[in-house]
Order: sequence, then C-alpha cells, then structure tokens
Amino acid sequence: MCGIIGYIGNKSATPLILDGLRKQSYRGYDSSGIIVFEKEKPELVRAVGKLEVLEEKVQKSDFKGTVGLGHSRWATHGEVTEANAHPHADCNNNIFVVHNGIIENFMSLKRQLEEKGHVFHSETDTEVLPHLIEHFFKGDLPKAVRQALLLVKGSYGMAVVARDDPGKIVAARVSSPLVISVNDSGGFVASDPSAIVSHSNKMVFLDDGEVAVLESGTFTVTDLHNIKKEKEITELEWSAEEAQKGGHETFMLKEILEQPESIRNVIRGRLLPKEGAVKLGGLEEVEEKLRGMKRIHIIACGTAFFSAMTGKYMIEEYAGLSCEVDIASEFRYRKPIVSPDTAFLFISQSGETADTLAALREVKRKGGLTLGIVNTVGSSVAREITAGIYNHAGPEIGVASTKAFTSQLVALAMLTVFLARQRSMSLVLGKRIVEEIARLPDLVKQVLGQKEVIAQLAQKYASFSNMLYIGRKYNYPIALEGALKLKEISYVHAEGYGAGEMKHGSIALIDENFPTLAICPSDSVYEKMISNIQEIKARGGSIIAIASVGDKEIANLADDVIYIPKTIEMLTPILSVLPLQLFAYEIGVKRGYDVDKPRNLAKSVTVE
Ligand code: G6P
Repeated sequence: MCGIIGYIGNKSATPLILDGLRKQSYRGYDSSGIIVFEKEKPELVRAVGKLEVLEEKVQKSDFKGTVGLGHSRWATHGEVTEANAHPHADCNNNIFVVHNGIIENFMSLKRQLEEKGHVFHSETDTEVLPHLIEHFFKGDLPKAVRQALLLVKGSYGMAVVARDDPGKIVAARVSSPLVISVNDSGGFVASDPSAIVSHSNKMVFLDDGEVAVLESGTFTVTDLHNIKKEKEITELEWSAEEAQKGGHETFMLKEILEQPESIRNVIRGRLLPKEGAVKLGGLEEVEEKLRGMKRIHIIACGTAFFSAMTGKYMIEEYAGLSCEVDIASEFRYRKPIVSPDTAFLFISQSGETADTLAALREVKRKGGLTLGIVNTVGSSVAREITAGIYNHAGPEIGVASTKAFTSQLVALAMLTVFLARQRSMSLVLGKRIVEEIARLPDLVKQVLGQKEVIAQLAQKYASFSNMLYIGRKYNYPIALEGALKLKEISYVHAEGYGAGEMKHGSIALIDENFPTLAICPSDSVYEKMISNIQEIKARGGSIIAIASVGDKEIANLADDVIYIPKTIEMLTPILSVLPLQLFAYEIGVKRGYDVDKPRNLAKSVTVE
C-alpha cells in the first residue's frame, strides 16, 4: 500500500502523476515510483524517501509521454528499497503494475512462476502480478488481467499498463479502494479521490471484483468474467482537504471508522478455522524456539502499552505462560532478567519510539529472543527484532492511536492462539476462538454504527471537567486507554482505574460532578463490576455503562448504557474500546479542539 495514480489522455502524464502522488502523501509513504510511456518506450523511475527525490530524478529525464502510472509505497512485504518500490514489471519490460493491498497466495504463485522461468527482482508480493499477467498476455491486456486475477487471493487496488497493448490503463479492486474519473482531456485512476478531484469531481468508485479499462476519454467496467457492469457517477462536493480525509471531518474519525477494514487486514490469510489455529508467517523461523518458552515479557509505550496489558490476560489465560508487561521507559532503566526461557515482545505502531527501541536493544545486548507487533514495515523496531507480526492497519495519521490499537489487540489474540495451540489448547477451543476472531470485523461495524447515539451522550457529558473510567480483567487496560483517549483529545481530566482498586483512593473523588464510565460486558467479572457500580451510585456519581447486548439489569442501574455485541471474554476489549474512542472524539470536537493534532503530543516519540 499506499497511493495509486494513473493518467491516460492528451496531456503530458508526468506532472499530473507527480501531482497525484503529492496529494496522497498525507497517507505516509517511504518510497515511490512512476512509469511513463515515452514514444511507446517504457520509462521507469523509482526512488526511496521523499517525493522530491523522485521528482528530481524524473525532471532530469523530461518525459513527455501521455500514459503513465505512479505509486507511493508504504512497505508491507519487503524492506524499503528501490527494488521493492512500485511499479513492478514482468520479465519483458512490457507489463507494469502498481498495487495496494496484500496478495495472500503470492508465495505459491511466485514458486509456480519461477518454475516456468520467471525471474523476480523484489521481495514484494506485488511482483507476482506483472509476471502472472505476462503468463496470460497475448496482446489483450484487460483479458490477461482478468485471467490472472482469477488465480489471486487477497486484497488489491491495482492499475496496469502494457507497452504491447498501448492506449489503455486497466484497474481492478478487491478490498482496497480505487476510483476512476474521465473528462475531455483524459482518464484518471487513483486510490484516493483527493488525488484527482481537482481535475473533475465526477467519480466512479469501483466495487470488489470489478475491472475497469480506461482509454483516452472513455471507460468500461466489467467483472472478472468480462460481464459488463453499469456504474453510477458520483459527483463529489469535497474540498481537497476533505477529500484526503475520505469525506470525514478528521483523520481520527476516518481511522476510527476504518476499523472493520483494518481488523480484516490484520487477520487476512492468518486464520485456519478447520485446524483451530493461526498461521503467522513472520514467526515461522522462531516457531520451535517459542515452543520451549516459559514466559513472555511485553514492552511498549502509550496506547501500545495498554494493548500489552490486555495481551497479558490473553496469554496467561489461554497459553498458560506467565506474562509480564513493562512500560519501555521503565524497563530500560531497571535491571530486567533476560533468561533463555523468556521471549520479549515489543509492540509499536510506528516502530520508532525511542524508549521501545532502547529497551529492545538492551534485551538484544543480553541475548534475549525479541519479537514484535509493528505497524510500520521497515521501521527500526521491525528491522531489529528477530521475528514478528505486522499489523497491516495502514498509516495512522491522527496522533491519538485508534485503529492501530485494535489491530494490536487482534494480533495479540492470534499470537495467543498460536502459543496456546503449541501447548495445551484443544482443537475445539482453538476453533471457537478462531471463529470469533473471524466475526470481529462485522461486530466492530455494529458498534461503530452507534456513532450518533454516542455523539448524543457526549453532548450530555461534554461540560464535565473530570471523569473516572473503570474496568476489570480484560477491560481494566481498556479503562486506562479510554481515559487516555479523553485526556489526549479533549483535555478533560480522566482517571483510569481497575474497578477493584477504586476503593483504595479514587472513590473519594466521586460526587454528582464526577461521572464514571464503567466497562462491564457480561463476562467472568460482571458481578464484581455491578457491585462497584452500586458503590458509585450510592455516592451520587452518575454512570455510563458499556454492557453486552441483552443485559437488562444494567439499564436499571446505570444512567446511560452503550451496548456492544456478545463475544468471548478475551475479545471484548476490541469491542468495548470503540465507544470510548468515539466518546472522546465527540467530546473533543464539541469542545472545539483539533483532535488530529492534540496540543503537546507527537505521533511518534523518537526522543526520550
Ligand atoms: C505516542 C503516540 C501514542 C502511541 C505512543 C507509542 O505517545 O501519541 O498514540 O501510543 O506514542 O507509539 P508507538 O508508535 O510505539 O506505538
């Protein structure tokens, strides 16, 4: 992933493509590339780092061709190198592809293509696409693309051009957005309308399984079997800035609402429902070592630390391993025991947090086995760990972490199943958990569907200056994360507490001006939570409860209730945190703050 742009028409393609890449640069990228047909000859330029590096290289060549593609890459498979940057080509330098998404069966496709003599030049999953299309290509690019895609599993938003079938861009999508737009001067394809809305506000959004063929001034859309599709033209009334945010007011809201998709991405290709197991390719090389481990030690900062805390409950309950968690800034200055039967797991969205990195280096110095859950491919943590799991959540722009957090929790749930199935977890239980993980994208969508109800609730509570968040067991870290979100976004004083610990201090604060958000799904500590809620009510405090659908008792006790669907206890945090994200967001907006860039905070804390 990240940004796709293509142009075909009667203007010089290069400046239009570079402009399209620049307009998508807000999404984050680490390398980029462009292919332009200059007098039918393909001219490919790729560069690592800032777009300026690509621009400089391209300007030296002064291409005038009127067909081309561009891509800004945010690495998912393979390091950040020029060879891994898109576009990728076939063996004959005929077919060129830019791609967002993940080709799940790329390993087996690559093996088959190599057996047929194809030579690969990158570590990417994307490179199988031009070679597979080459395999079918007999002069008709759209046909070859359709044939190739029938063999592909995974997600893609992609655009393809061929020297030997000039005058066309073929674009296709499954689970990765793609939009086309055609006007008098030509046609555009992009992964984000913001890249092309300045040329025309008339857009055609492709749906999953569709293939579009753009020629100068016209387009057709079919399915993979070449059955024609009628497409609606949408007129966007977005400003350029709104377009970057996908029509949402802020990146934070966009990222909150993207969670069904980001969770789908973290689980894609990793669940083995029949075996009640998970396949974590990034851990294969340490699989045997992990079998012998007795302890897991998780280290992280900020929101990632709260996912670590939640992971502790998962790993201890199901994998039967003792699990310790540490804030990286504390861990690095104490004298941790690094023993050979302990695996050290570092969780980081950015992979660049200074304290997490220092803690990782300390463990490596002492010879410990290091693992990671990281969102940013090729980041320092990703490079320095022995083995790990990528989140594939896509770039997170809002400073307050939302979609990265839930994808960390899902990665931890999968890691738990992985470790537990190496040990004593039964097939039946493994199947049950894997089944529930697979349902998460739909369950998350149901919770996010209550956005308006939560907005009304936020209106009611927006004027309070203090709030308490309480939870137990799996939802204790979620109380901490909920309070952190409110602090970060709305500058309201919020305390997160383990509900059982409340009596030892924070209950002294409770009065009618100090509301409590109680996370109490129907789980193993429900009764205990009810007692705590009663204690707060007895002291005049009001309660907003996050409870499971069907819980009638809670409605009599709490002032307000937000319901979440039922799932197994271990996965409830992935649902219960969503209303807390939306609640903090709505209060921040109502108080008039810039929720994407809260004061005094940085997205990536690369200094101590
Ligand atoms: C900063 C961000 C947080 C994030 C934390 C850890 O404080 O504002 O959202 O949770 O760093 O970042 P990491 O990239 O290591 O997950």
